[in-house]
Amino acid sequence: MRILTGIQPSGTLHWGNYFGMMQPAIGLQDEGEAFYFIADYHSLTSVCDPAALRKYIMGAVLDFLACGLDPLKTCFFLQSAIPAVTELTWILGTLTPMGLLERCHSYKDKIAHNLPATQGLFSYPVLMTADILLYQTDVVPVGRDQKQHIEVARDIAVKFNQKYEAVFKLPEASIQETTEIIPGLDGAKMSKSYGNTIEIFLTEKELYKKIMSIRTDSAPVDHPKPREGSTILALYKLFANSADYQQMEDDYQRGGVGYGEFKKRLFEAAWLFFKPMRARREELLADPVSIEQILKEGAARAQAVAQPTMDRVRSAIGLR
Ligand code: TRP
Repeated sequence: MRILTGIQPSGTLHWGNYFGMMQPAIGLQDEGEAFYFIADYHSLTSVCDPAALRKYIMGAVLDFLACGLDPLKTCFFLQSAIPAVTELTWILGTLTPMGLLERCHSYKDKIAHNLPATQGLFSYPVLMTADILLYQTDVVPVGRDQKQHIEVARDIAVKFNQKYEAVFKLPEASIQETTEIIPGLDGAKMSKSYGNTIEIFLTEKELYKKIMSIRTDSAPVDHPKPREGSTILALYKLFANSADYQQMEDDYQRGGVGYGEFKKRLFEAAWLFFKPMRARREELLADPVSIEQILKEGAARAQAVAQPTMDRVRSAIGLR
């Protein structure tokens, strides 16, 4: 069973990326043949500063490895290392109905958040479809927001298989239903486009400052605090053991503890949680040759799967 997923390096990776995508994907490494990649072509729809893009790509590579992606188990590569994916995007685009893309929520959402309405942004789901189909993927672990894109990929695969030959496997989405929405600093879903993120690898000082800036209500220290919709509590749950979490819930209910103290507890738990990954990241950072080697081997393995698919596609549609 081939498991494939990608992450966009459109900024520095944050807790929302970690709990929504990276942690579940890392957990699936033993469940099948994992193909994980950095979706750098996709990032061009939102990043147009080459220095920033370079930084985000390498940052995402380091973060993913530091967080536990095991290159011995998983084929880990950069999307752009296999440019055939853009050829496939074009080919699939010729049989993708406009209406299918017009219905995509993610496009409408991004336009609403002032991303430039380019053809690339509009056909983003076709590139994603090409990612999935090129590698003959069985299962795609993604967050809920990407579910519709997997349905698009299935639709396009069916169309191609019917119109030409049965070249593509039909992928299944694997949605992490248990992961609740990770709230950001302002309580809305943590997302780069909302500017409310907490990055995974901040310095101690930066992390403390960010956590202290989490928006709270103005309940006085001695009053009970509402647990429902509390950002601090929701985030603390991701890191704390059940006894510590229970303690915080009790303290919310009882009153007598202020938000400053709750934030301190959150800070301590988060700092501790990412500690081994921070150490691993430092080691990786000191060894750029190994990183290049990992990406090179990943690209070679990805290419070995992509090539036969492309050969079949070209032959099926009548290219020479
Ligand atoms: N669009 C995905 C996201 O933003 C990233 C992505 C690109 C992806 N290609 C993919 C995910 C293929 C799964 C499969 O989260």
